[in-house]
Amino acid sequence: MNIKITLLTASCALALAACGGNDAPPPQDTTATPATAPATTPGTAPGTAAGGMDTGTDAATAGTTTPGTTPAGTTDAGATGAASGAATTTAGDAAEVTGCETTIEGNDAMQFNVNSITIPASCNEFTINLEHTGQLPEAAMGHNVVITSESDMQAVAADGLSAGADNEYVPQDDDRVLAFTDIIGGGESTSVTFSTSAMQDGGNYMFFCSFPGHSALMKGTISVG
Ligand code: CO
Repeated sequence: MNIKITLLTASCALALAACGGNDAPPPQDTTATPATAPATTPGTAPGTAAGGMDTGTDAATAGTTTPGTTPAGTTDAGATGAASGAATTTAGDAAEVTGCETTIEGNDAMQFNVNSITIPASCNEFTINLEHTGQLPEAAMGHNVVITSESDMQAVAADGLSAGADNEYVPQDDDRVLAFTDIIGGGESTSVTFSTSAMQDGGNYMFFCSFPGHSALMKGTISVG
């Protein structure tokens, strides 16, 4: 009992202290603030503001002068050049192949980072590693790589849709499908190694993502060359 009372008392004391402490300071602060802060602020602010303004003006002037003169022209030219270069590069990006392997990327904007893959003629087997550089989950922005002849692509994509997520959106045991990976989500990666024999005929082949709605954008040519 004594302990409880003591605790209660202590609690009350703490509570009171806390409340008292809270009650007391605010008024003091409130009182003090108007008296001190405002008095100080106006006194200091103008000075600071003035200083800031001066500095800002100087900086602004300097800044205006700088970009206005050299950088502006240079930067614009550079930016234009860079933009053009980037656009050109993106439009015709060929996968970088090392040995008999390449790594391509899919992102959250429903894009592959390349639109063509050339398999060295010396490769009897080829490996495509797919990395999903986005963050969206598989169910929302799933990516895979499916390879078919160009003429089979549309039909295989449609049949893949029917096959559903449980089958990685790829028709099962389908000879038209030369290779495929499973579907992955953001941050994941997958890989497939396949024989290039079916593609050695010099025909037109495509790699694409068979996730619903993606093949219109996520596609590219793949050939043995
Ligand atoms: Co996709």
